[in-house]
Amino acid sequence: MTTPDGPAAGDASPSGRVEWNGAAYDRLSAPQARWGRAVVERLVLGGNETVLDAGCGSGRVTEELVARVPEGRVVALDASASMLDEARRRLRSHADRVRFVRADLLALDRRTLGGDAPVDAVLSTATLHWITDHDRVFANFAAVMRPGAQLVAQCGAEGNIARLLEAAHSVGVERAGSWLYAAPEETARRLGRAGFVDVDVWTNPEPTSFADEDSLGAFLETVCLREHLATVPRAQWRPLVQRVIGAMADPVIDYVRLNIVARRALG
Ligand SMILES: C[S@@+](CC[C@H](N)C(=O)[O-])C[C@H]1O[C@@H](n2cnc3c(N)ncnc32)[C@H](O)[C@@H]1O
Repeated sequence: MTTPDGPAAGDASPSGRVEWNGAAYDRLSAPQARWGRAVVERLVLGGNETVLDAGCGSGRVTEELVARVPEGRVVALDASASMLDEARRRLRSHADRVRFVRADLLALDRRTLGGDAPVDAVLSTATLHWITDHDRVFANFAAVMRPGAQLVAQCGAEGNIARLLEAAHSVGVERAGSWLYAAPEETARRLGRAGFVDVDVWTNPEPTSFADEDSLGAFLETVCLREHLATVPRAQWRPLVQRVIGAMADPVIDYVRLNIVARRALG
């Protein structure tokens, strides 16, 4: 099933999740692109490294990453075909240095990356909270990273969009599927168990406001309430989203981000 903007909800990605609408996400993801730019800046790079973008989405943040490694390479990995289509379009002028891989991060290993040399760094933005098994995903990252390689990531933290989820719940709009908004302490412990050192994990609030109800509605439909709406016919999406907006105290999404900087141990 497809819509003019790409696959409709209900088309499953390899991880069994509801498919994204890559074109709509690319148009609407200004907040994620803004946060992502700051996260990319945390990578310490000489310019010739190979970096894995784990959950590259439509490639807006990947584009910033490609610019940071003018003599290096980027592996843009995502589970969503629709997102990868957008990323390929966006990054077509860098096709010689970007390799696109459709894969589930829960199954990531050296073979997923074509058996190439281990990567010098892993970047991941706005992705890890969609995966509940963080122990496995961190172990998988470690398995494809060279000793001493950097991990720089950001995703939703404990408390992320709690007020929005409460507003949705209050009008009977419930989320399907599963997610993990992890706390910094448990994340640091997981990273240690997976073989990471120099671990720094912290959170920051990112309250995000929208110019008007239309832009808030389109954003909620494509990003935050995507899984709430997955089992509902398309024609009902906007009325349900309007009900949620009506239950929100203000047109502000109460994002809280979990930030990770770490290194794969040398030994
Ligand atoms: C909100 S988008 C973030 C995209 C981009 N990194 C950004 O910051 O805008 C989350 C992405 O994670 C991907 N994703 C979620 N679970 C995944 C998994 N298990 N394996 C690979 N990609 C996954 C989704 O397909 C989606 O493209």
